Amino acid sequence: MPESLVSGLPQLGLGCASLGNLYRAIDRDQAFATVDAAWDGGMRYYDTAPYYGLGLSERRLGDALRHRPREDFVVSTKVGRLLDPDTATDLPEERHGFVTPMPFKVRYDYSYDGVMRSYEASLQRLGLARIDILLVHDIGRLTHGDDHQRHFADLAKGGYRALDELRASGAISAIGLGVNEWEVCAEAMEIGQWDCFLLAGRYTLLEQEPLHGFLPRCERHGAKIILGGAYNSGILATGTRKGGEVHYNYAPAPADIVERVARIEAVCDSHGVTLAAAALQFPLAHPVVQCVIPGMGEARRVHQTQQLFAQAIPAGFWSDLVAQGLLDPVAPVPQAGH
Ligand SMILES: NC(=O)c1ccc[n+]([C@@H]2O[C@H](COP(=O)([O-])OP(=O)(O)OC[C@H]3O[C@@H](n4cnc5c(N)ncnc54)[C@H](OP(=O)(O)O)[C@@H]3O)[C@@H](O)[C@H]2O)c1
Repeated sequence: MPESLVSGLPQLGLGCASLGNLYRAIDRDQAFATVDAAWDGGMRYYDTAPYYGLGLSERRLGDALRHRPREDFVVSTKVGRLLDPDTATDLPEERHGFVTPMPFKVRYDYSYDGVMRSYEASLQRLGLARIDILLVHDIGRLTHGDDHQRHFADLAKGGYRALDELRASGAISAIGLGVNEWEVCAEAMEIGQWDCFLLAGRYTLLEQEPLHGFLPRCERHGAKIILGGAYNSGILATGTRKGGEVHYNYAPAPADIVERVARIEAVCDSHGVTLAAAALQFPLAHPVVQCVIPGMGEARRVHQTQQLFAQAIPAGFWSDLVAQGLLDPVAPVPQAGH
């Protein structure tokens, strides 16, 4: 088992929720062009989930990657949601934010059998002979509210054992959680040994709460962070001036967030920095953060993202953010020419 699989992940990966038509439909050719652009740009890590388009993202990703040498790329997918056939579904209807998803409905299952079934179904949908990383998807109070304890008990009693067995047998290389809240990752550290946490939206240019407790705890546990939602689902990529609705946390951004991002944009302007470049590069300065996986649904976005990733950001930009109370003073910041 390559113990260093997670610590060897490249800094920039492809978040594939968009391949499942998150918020807008893309066709098969566009999905393939996106993956091809990522591949041609040297990106070798791809994150997907059964949930993304209710199977659509996994199908498209596997189809787009299958002809590539399998040892040359890393795929993570998730467990916790089984997809049951739904004969009553209205295909074009948007469900869970996915446009024209596949005809399945979600059933949560974090048990031993649920994890094993989910893993096997993902292999079939991807059409790949191997999955590298399995992440427990959206366990936690944010998704489950009062049902959290019941689901967490299923994970503690059986789901974790399934993941650990798959890892110990060498079938997969790493396990973790894929969530939008850090608290449940801390809880999970009590029940097992995790390689990574895909944490979305909680350690960004806008918010750095995990700096003071959670990220150091990950370091002690030996787990890396795969950082999803570096743009907080949109606003840190689009900024506040594009007109129309801007997104924060997968919903229209509230006024206080828009106001804070506008202040960050003013600092960007004074240093000639692109907001999205700062948002993409900032989290990577923390030693526990292994990679960022921005969501991209077109080849043009992939090219843009690579430019943003390479953009030089002067040291004075970060110190001005700190001086204006817009960045935690103890947050590690990228060195110019990272
Ligand atoms: N619980 C979990 O495990 C979890 C939760 C969230 C995310 N994730 C993972 O993290 C990945 C990324 O998260 P995300 O897609 O939710 O959020 P994100 O990366 O913060 O934001 C994606 C949004 O930003 C826009 N965007 C990207 N680059 C842009 C650019 N250069 N200019 C303007 N807009 C740009 C995209 O718009 P367009 O659609 O117009 O390109 C998309 O709507 C997901 O695909 C998934 O793999 C996992």
